Amino acid sequence: MIPFVDLKAQYASIRNEVNAAVQGVLDSCQFTLGPEVAAFEEEFAGCHGASYGVAVNTGTSALHLALLAAGIGPGDEVITVPFTFVATVSAICYTGATPVFVDIDPRTFTMDPAAIEKAVTPKTKAIIPVHLYGQPADMDPIAAVARRHGLTVIEDAAQAHASEYRGRRVGSIGDMGCFSFYPGKNLGAIGEGGIVTTNDASLARTIRMLRDWGAERKYHHVLRGYNFRMEGIQGAVLRVKLRHLEAWTEARRRAAAAYDRRLRPTGIATPHAMDWARHVYHIYAVRSPRRQLWQDALGAQGIQTGIHYPTPVHLLPAFLDLGYRAGQFPHSERAANEVLSLPMFPELTDAQVAAVCGCLSDVAARDDTVASAAD
Ligand SMILES: Cc1ncc(COP(=O)(O)O)c(C=O)c1O
Repeated sequence: MIPFVDLKAQYASIRNEVNAAVQGVLDSCQFTLGPEVAAFEEEFAGCHGASYGVAVNTGTSALHLALLAAGIGPGDEVITVPFTFVATVSAICYTGATPVFVDIDPRTFTMDPAAIEKAVTPKTKAIIPVHLYGQPADMDPIAAVARRHGLTVIEDAAQAHASEYRGRRVGSIGDMGCFSFYPGKNLGAIGEGGIVTTNDASLARTIRMLRDWGAERKYHHVLRGYNFRMEGIQGAVLRVKLRHLEAWTEARRRAAAAYDRRLRPTGIATPHAMDWARHVYHIYAVRSPRRQLWQDALGAQGIQTGIHYPTPVHLLPAFLDLGYRAGQFPHSERAANEVLSLPMFPELTDAQVAAVCGCLSDVAARDDTVASAAD
């Protein structure tokens, strides 16, 4: 049996450190925000080249508050991609703004910068590129469009901790960066968590207020805010885990390289890492028009896989009222039909990679679509 993600292996490797951190919070009774969260904010922002970090309860709240801090609300439009986790789009809707989709670059699964300009209208206020699977979107041309039209850039870096674009860490390239600490993420809490990173003091101050009922000081509410505070225990555990992030990221990259080495000769379509990217492989996805067959064959051998994501957001029932139709974003739609995420976590062994690749090669050898999928 090879799991898709092995959280137990990670906990076993840092059990004493995590337990001590939790005990520390129990002893201090600083259960919400507090010194551990404050220290984590500083350490995480520093690790991503940002001056400020504001920790919140989820990655979704990070996106929601970043949008609100940028002044986005009803009547505004925000450009993003349909090939993402639903949260990117939901956060836009929470503000009352309208999501406007552009297609992805089929090589990287991230926003196609060439598609943005055509989607800009007088109502457009922001762009949310998603660093999907751990590879940054092509930020320079995205920033150039944003500059031309005076748009805010909010990076959805939920899957991209410690990822780099042309040598710069994500999270400090756009105006704001939003990360998730959902347990299975590259940096995961022991529950939920998120953070907004930024170099803008005023945005950081607004988000800090919005996450805690819009209060400037206790009971003095200057904004209509939310209870989106990070818990003390999450801050303490995330501080412990942050110290391991670099080693875990390198382990993911080694596992990805091992997959590449074994799969490329078979003609299977493997991830395309751009030369300007430090891809951190939150997800290692191969693609095939016969994905279901592949998933079933791996499953029969006890190898867990995932699909991220089977339906692009513009075709999800919850978003049909946006008025999009099948066929409008062909690269997103094709990716949604073909991607298959293989087991990927820092503790993945060479033997496990070899077992997955052995099984996959057998299936691919019987699949006449493989040569064309590798084009
Ligand atoms: C691309 C993307 N955006 C946003 C989120 C939302 O993060 P969270 O689950 O912490 O709310 C996630 C993860 O779930 C994600 O993968």
